[in-house]
Order: sequence, then C-alpha cells, then structure tokens
Amino acid sequence: MSDRVRIFDTTLRDGEQAPGCSMTLREKLRIAKLLAELNVDIIEAGFPAASPGDFESVKAIADENFGPVICGLARCNPGDIEKVHAAVKGAERHRIHVFVATSEIHREHKLRMAKEEIIRSAQGAVRMARELCDDVEFSPEDASRTELPYLADVVSAAIEAGATTINIPDTVGYTVPAEFDELFRYLKQHVAGIDAVTLSVHCHDDLGMAVANSLAAVRAGARQVECTINGIGERAGNCSLEEVVMALKTRAEFFNLETGVDSTRLYPASRLVASITGMQIPRNKAVVGENAFAHEAGIHQHGMLQHSSTYEIMRPEDVGLARSSLVLGKHSGRHAFRDRVAELGFELDEFETNRAFQEFKKLADKKKDVYDGDIEAIIMNVDGKSTGPWALHRMEVQTDSDAPASATVTLQNESGEPVAATATGDGPVAAAFAALAQLTGIHVTLHKFDLHSASVGEDAQGEVTITVEYEGNSYRATGASVDIVEAAARACLEVTNRILRRQQLDGDDKPAREKLSRATI
Ligand code: KIV
Ligand code: ZN
Repeated sequence: MSDRVRIFDTTLRDGEQAPGCSMTLREKLRIAKLLAELNVDIIEAGFPAASPGDFESVKAIADENFGPVICGLARCNPGDIEKVHAAVKGAERHRIHVFVATSEIHREHKLRMAKEEIIRSAQGAVRMARELCDDVEFSPEDASRTELPYLADVVSAAIEAGATTINIPDTVGYTVPAEFDELFRYLKQHVAGIDAVTLSVHCHDDLGMAVANSLAAVRAGARQVECTINGIGERAGNCSLEEVVMALKTRAEFFNLETGVDSTRLYPASRLVASITGMQIPRNKAVVGENAFAHEAGIHQHGMLQHSSTYEIMRPEDVGLARSSLVLGKHSGRHAFRDRVAELGFELDEFETNRAFQEFKKLADKKKDVYDGDIEAIIMNVDGKSTGPWALHRMEVQTDSDAPASATVTLQNESGEPVAATATGDGPVAAAFAALAQLTGIHVTLHKFDLHSASVGEDAQGEVTITVEYEGNSYRATGASVDIVEAAARACLEVTNRILRRQQLDGDDKPAREKLSRATI
C-alpha cells in the first residue's frame, strides 16, 4: 500500500503575500471552499496577528468548518499564538503554526538573537501552543541556510516541546534537490523522535526549483508538502500545488505515494485563483497553462491521433480540463449551457447560473460561436469577483487618429443610481480610465497592461489584465469583453472596487498592517 503525502495549502497566507494578490474576505471564503472541494488536508488561512482584517478572515474560514484542518501562522510570542488560537478554534480540526528564523544571516541581521535564545523562544512558543491545541507545527525559517547541527538542535527542541509537525522551509528558494535531500536525511539521522512527527517541506521558487526541491524532500521522508495554487507567493512564488500533486500522481510507480487531492478540480481552482488575484497563468505553465495539452507540431499531432500516450503523460480530463469541440451559440439553451459549465468543472449555484446565462446570451448576440474560453471568462466575471460598490452601466468611446480620444462612462452605485462622466486622453483606454477616476475619486498609476484573447476569431473576447499602484500598494485585476477598451475599463473598475472595499475592510487597522510589512515574516 502506498503512503500518503498531506497537502498543506498556503494560497491564503503565503500566496496572498505576493505583491498585488491581496484578497477580500469573500474572495478568501470562495477559495477556501474550493480548496475543501479539492480535498487538501490543511488550509493555512492566514496570519491573524498581521491585522484585524487577517484575523477576521481566518476566523470566518475556520467557522465555516469546510472540512480540512484550518491553520494560522504565528511568530514565537504569546500575543500571536493567542490570536491564532482565537481565530482557528471554530474549526473542528485546527492547527497553530509557529515559526522563528534560524539561519546566521537572520539571527544576526533580523532578530539580533543568539542561538540559545532562539531555541528557548521556539520551545516556549511550541509549549504554549500545545497547551491550547493538540496540533502544532513548527518552522525554522530559512532552514536551508542554517548550519545543519544547529538546525538539528532547534528541531529537537521543538519536538521535545510538543510540536507534531516539523516544517523545513527553503525560505529564499536557495537550495537544490540533492542538497535538500541531504538536509532531510541528516535531520532523520540526528534528531531523536523525528519519526514520531510529520516532516513537512515548504519551498520558494526563486531559482525555479520549488517543485523539484519539494519532491526531493518527499523522497527523503517528508510527508507534508506546503504549496499554493498556481504557485503564487512571495517573490517568484511557492511550490505549485497542481504540479506537485500531478507529479506524485503521474509518477506513482516511482514515488509510491498518494495525495487525497481530487485532481479533476485542479483546473477550476487554478482559474478561480487567477481571476481573484488577477495573476494570469502563463500559457506554458505546467498542468494548468493554456498550452499544457496543445500539440502544434505535425509529427506530434500525428502521434496523438494514433495514441494519445505518445506525447501526453496526463489526460486533460485528469486535471479537470474537459476540452471538446462543442461550441455554443445564441440558440443554445440553459441546459446546454449548464452542462458545459459543469463539464468545465465549475459549480455555480442557481443565482450564479442565472447571471452567467444572461451574460452568455448577451455575448451570443454579439458573436456567432461561444467557445470554452469565452464561457470561462463569463464565469470568472460572475463567480470570482465580488461586486461593487461600482458597476459599469454603459460606455461610449470616440477615437480619431488626429485628435485625443474621448470616453463617456456611466456607472451605477450600490443603490443603482447612474452617474456619468466624460474625459479625454491619449487613446481610448486612457480616456476611459480618466472618466472612471473622475467618477470614483480613485486615481491609480498603471504599471502593466496585458491583453489576451479568451478564445479564437476576431470576435473573441479580449481579457485585459492590469497592474496598478495606489498609495504604495500594487493591485491586479482582469476584465473581459468583445470590446477590448471595455475589457480594460472593466479591469480598472475591478481594481477600483477592490481598493474601495479594502479601505472599508481595513478601516483603522491600516497602520498595523503597514507595521507588519512582509519584511517581518
Ligand atoms: O518561507 C517561509 O519560511 C515561510 C515560513 C513562515 C513557513 O513562509
Ligand atoms: Zn514561505
């Protein structure tokens, strides 16, 4: 019988630390629900001491009791640990995760603490957490750059104090597979009691080796992998959940290990996270990228037609990508639409289905054939995004190659009242953004503008993803429409709404959030 590797998802904690990836409470709840459908073992829902907003979202997720263990992160101090406990205790199964940095560089320059002090702090924190909860994880931050004998001492102390999971982070994505394998084998040899706890791995992707390093750790005895959907996270990101799960599944004869993840939910999960965070999936991304199952070269296509295993090691349906040649159009009914949505792996409730169907009908009036990509774009508009306070009602754009473009935009506020503004700009997108800024009072600085086609043909919907800066924070969002200027305006409005909702959500906790900047983690 094969052994089980637990999947610890940290999309809502480490993933959210990626620049521009902050999510609202409602968005986090949607993702947590989908992670439960994926059947991950543990959801790290956040860092409750970071801000009242973070505390509230961890608590809301724990109180929903979706099924997986709900975990919260804490530094080694009583305040953080109490906050995590208060936030997660609503979940039937919950975990407190404490961490402290152990490498020389962090000891000297960040913590200014001696080796013994760090050990005492780790032991005290784990003991306190164990008094509150039976399930306690300990992480020596920057473990991969820590002297091995000292790392073994810290880990021994944490186990003695009652840690039930020991997580080894490659915090800065520095290690390589052979070296990480040695590190895990060293700990297994030199730490008493290590076989009685779950050994875990947490990798970052700075050198593009997060998945390879995680798999090396698994080969050396790790039985929990910490990862995020689409690999989002600090800097270059974390180990990608879909890649590590599919590697273990596809190469089961090599690893002889299994996860509990329902791989057919990977694609919808990936699309939902991309839509909510605005962090687009690269076309050539393993497992969930648009090209992951596309075969261009004639010789490959010929082989595929003879037998798909000639060039395909996974089937698209294994990851929830049920591509078919079926195309919907304006005569397609609600049933056909609903069936297609389900085949694409999305679960919508009645209200969302109705909204999506209305959008589908509007789109089918504008374009003859509606492809899977168009349907996904519609669902993302009704599913992933939270609404308001502003909604786009109408827009009219005028361009002239010899004069500035002008845009008249009409928005509706939460009470449904229309307000309109006209602005000019160097091109229709600039004019539309200026009109939006006049109406909402939010003036963002545009840093990045990406346009991609959701399906095929000149009438395909354009998906525009923008990255903007507002008061020192970076935001990303996506908008879709057959009119690419409207798609850009929708993306800008989504960003504006996120900023306004964040302002409402954060209220007066903004200074606390700034104090607890990423550098302290
Ligand atoms: O990368 C890291 O070291 C972390 C820890 C807090 C586990 O995210
Ligand atoms: Zn991390």
